[in-house]
Amino acid sequence: MRQAARLFGSGALLALLMAGSGSADPDHDDLIVNGEIDMIERAPAPPYVEAFDEIISGWSFRSDETQALQMDDFDNPGMLGVERARVMFDTPMGSGGQACSSCHETPEALRGVRATYPKWDEERQTVQTVEMQVNECLTERMGAEPLGYDSPEMVDMAALIASVSRGMVVNVAIDGPARPVWEQGRELYYTRFGQLELACANCHEDNAGRMIRADHLSQGQINGFPTYRLNNAALISVHNRFRGCIRDTRAETFPVGSPELVALELYVASRGNGLTVEGPAVRN
Ligand code: HEC
Ligand code: HEC
Repeated sequence: MRQAARLFGSGALLALLMAGSGSADPDHDDLIVNGEIDMIERAPAPPYVEAFDEIISGWSFRSDETQALQMDDFDNPGMLGVERARVMFDTPMGSGGQACSSCHETPEALRGVRATYPKWDEERQTVQTVEMQVNECLTERMGAEPLGYDSPEMVDMAALIASVSRGMVVNVAIDGPARPVWEQGRELYYTRFGQLELACANCHEDNAGRMIRADHLSQGQINGFPTYRLNNAALISVHNRFRGCIRDTRAETFPVGSPELVALELYVASRGNGLTVEGPAVRN
């Protein structure tokens, strides 16, 4: 029975791959944003990523047209979300009448955050994502209502926080107390989900570089998040993307902000240690 399910799983993947048109290497173009932020699109794989010698940004797998949109902020539709969040950053919210800027002065004061999150929070004894950290400031420091984890306002704010770290090398810590959470994330990455019995690794490790339907499969890195997706005409959070990928295997998914997706985010982020922060990136 188990064997049969396995065979079905690989058969389903094979069918999806056959519907594409073979394999295509990611390109070697150089991503320089606004003529000044020189990104690292390829880096040596961290030792715990055994499937690859090299980790590669999702940007290198996209078409020239999509790539071009990320090379200039005037062409990048994700920057509109960043601008909206800049206004929010200066807007008083909550019972204390404070804005983010009352304490953090400018968004640039948060440079470096995106490169090291998700991160272990000593006080809370848990791994926090950027979104959790923003809600902590809103509820505990400002007397405001939390934003929905995946609300447009939160995704905009996450895009702003990513944008001020662009070009910085991703360096997420996976040792110390974060270790068990990281291990849980790794476990999930290799778990087969849904009727199609597919794990993240079946697509993003075993078949990275191949075509799946009309899509060029990348390594599933998250250094470009939040990403502006042309298909959705919207900025998309990390957890939204994970949920979409799990849904495509016809499985039930975990809610945004759930411990499972936080663990998965920590693990996937660590697979990109050595690439640069690109958010908001542009994808199809
Ligand atoms: C009343 C002061 C205050 C306000 C207002 C405030 N914060 Fe914070 N924020 C803090 C403190 C204190 C910390 C924790 C200390 C630290 O890590 O720098 C923090 C930490 C953070 C961090 C993590 C920084 C890091 O280095 O890990 C982010 C991101 C952040 N705040 C975003 C925001 C955003 C976005 C807003 C507005 C919605 C906001 N904060 C409003 C005081 C504030
Ligand atoms: C059936 C194959 C399949 C599975 C299984 C799958 N994905 Fe994906 N994923 C895709 C496709 C296709 C895309 C869009 C093309 C691309 O960016 O790779 C994508 C995109 C992504 C992206 C966006 C990458 C970028 O640079 O914007 C991330 C992140 C991602 N997947 C993570 C995951 C995770 C985590 C899992 C497991 C929970 C998973 N995927 C499971 C097919 C899959």
